Amino acid sequence: MNSIATYQQQIEDALKDKKYGSNPKELYEPISYIMSLGGKRLRPVLVFIATDIFDGDASKALHPALAIELFHNFTLVHDDLMDKAPLRRSQPTVHEKWNNNIAILSGDAMMVRAYQELCLADTTMLPQLLEIFSDTAVKVCEGQQYDMNYETMTKVSIQQYIKMIELKTAVLLGGALKIGALIGKAREEDAQRLYDFGKHIGIAFQLQDDILDVYADAAKFGKQKGGDIIANKKTYLLLKAIEMAESNRYLKEELHQWIAAPQFDAKEKVEAVINIYNFLNVKELARTEMQKHYELALTFLKDIPVAEDKKQSLINFAESLMVREM
Ligand code: IPE
Ligand code: IPE
Ligand code: MG
Ligand code: MG
Ligand code: MG
Repeated sequence: MNSIATYQQQIEDALKDKKYGSNPKELYEPISYIMSLGGKRLRPVLVFIATDIFDGDASKALHPALAIELFHNFTLVHDDLMDKAPLRRSQPTVHEKWNNNIAILSGDAMMVRAYQELCLADTTMLPQLLEIFSDTAVKVCEGQQYDMNYETMTKVSIQQYIKMIELKTAVLLGGALKIGALIGKAREEDAQRLYDFGKHIGIAFQLQDDILDVYADAAKFGKQKGGDIIANKKTYLLLKAIEMAESNRYLKEELHQWIAAPQFDAKEKVEAVINIYNFLNVKELARTEMQKHYELALTFLKDIPVAEDKKQSLINFAESLMVREM
């Protein structure tokens, strides 16, 4: 098995040589821009790890891995537009650097390029890979729509929140692992176990993302601090705060005023809501929920009939994601 760093390098090398197109430059420059800003490349790494777990041919994993990374970056371009986010990977977002229409259209082109990349996969596996890829992709859209719907909904349950992050984030990690497993010629039930592992790791990953949005070291995180608070995103932190403030008239009032405020100073709102979060200790609750999904994820690995050391490298990688700072 190659190390994670080797996989990451392989992905970077392949991406560096990629040409997405040249004219009109307003369509293609943003693609090269966002793809060159780095990021953790964790989804393509998952494809490689999964292929390796089943002793598959790593060279067959490259195109699908790149396709997933392209798709992921496309979702970021549109997500930043939808979330009105100014920063991504410590640089201006595409819609900030260019404009909204450019973010829409270059994002569209990225999704098409992602499909073209996937179509370079081994033809015997292509129908199956296309099916998983497309199913995953449309689920991400469903999750993103729930995420937007919930911004303006006052009553969102924890269950609805978990379903939303499963769709917008977790299925893509699961899909990457399932695709890798099938490239490794895993049995369907083992591919599904890896998918379920990825799904719960993905839920934990998004819970961590929500925590980092509020508590990360801004210089490392590379995104606007408190962006979720500004947008009234129904994160686990906010939902728990709303629930716990129920028994405290003063806090309840204050929290609802910030959520309902049509106009506000962003810095002031972020600070005030963080103070409420700190007072109610919701960060700890979010961490507990995250840990729960992390541990649940591990249970799906148990019955996969491969050597323990193969699974261990996947576990190590997943564990490293749970303590990330960006
Ligand atoms: C960001 O994903 C979007 C979420 C699902 C939270 P990553 O945190 O994997 O972003 P990059 O690709 O490493 O920048
Ligand atoms: C992102 O969720 C999910 C997708 C991009 C599909 P967020 O909106 O929390 O991601 P970040 O924090 O902007 O990376
Ligand atoms: Mg979003
Ligand atoms: Mg966002
Ligand atoms: Mg986020």
